[in-house]
Amino acid sequence: MSLLHAKEFNKKLCTSSSLSALFDFLIKQNLGNITFSTSLGQEDQVLTHHIATQKLPIQIFTLDTGRLFQETYDVLDDTQRKYKKRIHVFAPNTKDVENLVVSKGPNSFYRSVENRKECCNIRKIEPLKRALKNQNVWITGLRKSQSENRSDLDFFSYDESFGILKFNPLLHWSLDDVTTYLDTYNVLQNKLHKKGYVSIGCAPCTRAIEPGEDIRAGRWWWEVSKKECGLHTIKS
Ligand code: ADX
Ligand code: SF4
Repeated sequence: MSLLHAKEFNKKLCTSSSLSALFDFLIKQNLGNITFSTSLGQEDQVLTHHIATQKLPIQIFTLDTGRLFQETYDVLDDTQRKYKKRIHVFAPNTKDVENLVVSKGPNSFYRSVENRKECCNIRKIEPLKRALKNQNVWITGLRKSQSENRSDLDFFSYDESFGILKFNPLLHWSLDDVTTYLDTYNVLQNKLHKKGYVSIGCAPCTRAIEPGEDIRAGRWWWEVSKKECGLHTIKS
């Protein structure tokens, strides 16, 4: 699979394609192993609901950085029970975390962007590489309107960093579309969303936002230039 395949696929899809149509298209391509990464956030709960209720042959995994909110672990637990579908958990390498915490302390990420990226690399990127091993397609809940960085995304893209075809079915959804879907289908949501949290990552690196603030303003809020952790190098 390559950038060429991604471009070919994109030509066959249109912005108004329904979630079912997009997933039908994906499954019909017989691309091999398909995996979906869930942060257990709102977008990802839409996709988990769809994948689980439609019984699609798609594996689901999450990256447990070890620093998530208790409320996020509650969503993980409750979601698996509700759908009776396993969400595979990938945790960071113990030695790497020990070395980081022993050498720099538990809060090194606040002290420099370099330190923050080091922590994200250990707790997210390395486990993500393991999660994507032997997989042919990686599904995400990325949306164009989440950030400027993401506005150039396509349904299919080739992720050069991880060498895998990526599929972003919620590309054209607004945040309103997401919350309407969650309400309509009574989908489980993180309790923090009601307390002003929109985009939720690790506990020490996420804060609630004020009305009118950018939806990613609560992520790594102390950094000036931001707001990606390296999971997504955006290229179509
Ligand atoms: S991040 O790069 O800023 O952390 P964001 O929270 O917007 O990402 O989520 C975008 C997509 O990245 C999600 O839809 C999901 O596919 C993936 N993702 C983010 N965090 C995780 C996680 N902890 N585990 C698995 N997938 C994740
Ligand atoms: Fe570490 Fe914060 Fe990145 Fe989580 S978001 S991996 S705690 S720097």
